[in-house]
Amino acid sequence: MTTEPAQQPTVSVTVIGLGNLGRVLAAAFLEQGYRTTVWNRSPAKADDLVARGANRAATAAEAVAAGELVIVCVLDYDTVRQVLTPAADALRGRTLINLTSGTPEPARELAAWVTGQGAEYLDGAVYAVPQTIGTPDAFVLYSGSSAVFETYREQLNLLGAPTFVGTDPGQASLYDIALLSGMYGMFAGFFQSVAIADSAQVKATDITGLLVPWLNAAAAALPGFAAEIDSGDYTTATSNLEINAVGLTNMLTATKAQGVGVDLLTPLQTLFERQIAQGHGAESLSRAIESLRSSR
Ligand SMILES: NC(=O)c1ccc[n+]([C@@H]2O[C@H](COP(=O)([O-])OP(=O)(O)OC[C@H]3O[C@@H](n4cnc5c(N)ncnc54)[C@H](OP(=O)(O)O)[C@@H]3O)[C@@H](O)[C@H]2O)c1
Repeated sequence: MTTEPAQQPTVSVTVIGLGNLGRVLAAAFLEQGYRTTVWNRSPAKADDLVARGANRAATAAEAVAAGELVIVCVLDYDTVRQVLTPAADALRGRTLINLTSGTPEPARELAAWVTGQGAEYLDGAVYAVPQTIGTPDAFVLYSGSSAVFETYREQLNLLGAPTFVGTDPGQASLYDIALLSGMYGMFAGFFQSVAIADSAQVKATDITGLLVPWLNAAAAALPGFAAEIDSGDYTTATSNLEINAVGLTNMLTATKAQGVGVDLLTPLQTLFERQIAQGHGAESLSRAIESLRSSR
């Protein structure tokens, strides 16, 4: 019995930046048989990839010239610019996908600079750690050129589930800030919870064993809150702002009595009180968003 040889992918890929994430990105393409060229400021980080079949470029310009699809993953956007500036001429006709983390305005500026060199630009925000790249746990948000997203969807699929969030190149970073804000808010709650437990000699591991299932259960309320916010209808028959504000005030008093700081939760009380002062105490807890949202 003869087996058909696996078809060699025709897209040539370059990965610039071989830190913890970049090395795994390059490996994901190599493993699927892509002609992969790599470059890193510290060349030794390419050794393992080269041993597995990657081409080592001597300069960033050489790396850009070698790949139809150029993936960049370095420290920050300033570094992207620093690395690509000497490679500007080689960018013409290339497609650049930047998986470096950043914020919206630098993403837009970088997109304008890259397209000004005659290249296509797609920005990406990675929701994975190196170990989960290419697994069902990884997802990546992209914004910028929708044509690039569609053309290279097969290659993007190798890294993590790809989602296109808009043609504004800054949009993936905007989503990134939103999602990371949710994560840091959860961390803030965790720190507060552990500090209160600690004031009564309860171990962090013990309270965390209860906190994780409680947070999972509480997260189930978020889609309902989101629907209220999108509709602007904050009518509720259940948990209104007033009752939550009373509960939070009692909690803060008890927290202080335990000698624990209230710095993390006091701002939340302020958001609630602002809405109550405007006459919205009987409306849903989700109305607290109105104390934060920008005027549109
Ligand atoms: N690791 C993750 O789990 C993860 C997840 C999502 C997003 N990200 C984002 O992915 C990007 C890379 O993360 P990482 O974990 O791979 O970081 P890392 O391991 O610290 O690697 C940083 C990379 O940037 C390069 N670099 C730094 N300064 C440079 C300069 N002045 N000129 C040229 N190259 C420079 C480094 O080159 P040298 O090797 O020469 O120092 C290295 O290739 C970051 O924006 C990070 O936020 C990472």
